[in-house]
Amino acid sequence: MKLLIRPDADSAAETVAVLVSAQLRGKPDSVLGLATGRTMERVYAALVREHRRGRLGFAGATSFNLDEYVGIAPEDPRSYRAFMDAHLFRHVDLPPHRRHLPDGMATDHAAEGARYEALIRAAGGIDLQLLGIGGTGHIGFNEPLSSFASRTRAVVLAPRTRQQNRGDFGGDADAVPPRAITMGVATIGESRRAVLLATGSAKAEILALAVEGPITASISATALQMHPDCLVIADEDAAGRL
Ligand code: GLP
Repeated sequence: MKLLIRPDADSAAETVAVLVSAQLRGKPDSVLGLATGRTMERVYAALVREHRRGRLGFAGATSFNLDEYVGIAPEDPRSYRAFMDAHLFRHVDLPPHRRHLPDGMATDHAAEGARYEALIRAAGGIDLQLLGIGGTGHIGFNEPLSSFASRTRAVVLAPRTRQQNRGDFGGDADAVPPRAITMGVATIGESRRAVLLATGSAKAEILALAVEGPITASISATALQMHPDCLVIADEDAAGRL
């Protein structure tokens, strides 16, 4: 695990965008693992700016998002598909048929997990996986006690996660879907490179545990300590407890 501390959230996001740009320049047909959440909004804004300046193209790329809420349709503005459309997909030339998210409307979750894993494998695996970190230490939606051997599957969200994500659901934690489909810890661990971005003082405590604490299934992000090529990028506020 390598750690890069940047002065503020904008420069931290800018650094992630530079890494994504370099990845796509070096390998235009890269397979990108994408993340949602407020932290990523600045990253996608920076990528869209680069794309508009003609310095970055996604035409050869393929993407796989980490997760989606169960029971939320892609056209629902609260879906992660809608988040990706609003912040990235609508603004760049990533071909629509190569933008993948788990299907939150699937009724057979085991089959949906297997389908998603097969798609990732068929694409050649993920070259660069972007990650945020939740207050529970989740990556994707791998809540505490997710097995490090877990693969794409349906999970139950922790009460704290539903609290944290209530903003997209009218401020009501009970309106946040209780379940999601997420790539597993093992799925994420197989990415060739992982980049975790954390910004703001609210992430300081969990980031310190993720980076410096004992490797434990109680904090899924600690699995990244075993990843062969993981870069953690934090702003000074998120790095405050390291
Ligand atoms: C969400 C997502 C994660 C994300 C995390 C942090 O629930 N499932 O992929 O990294 O929680 O979100 P935020 O960036 O809004 O703090």
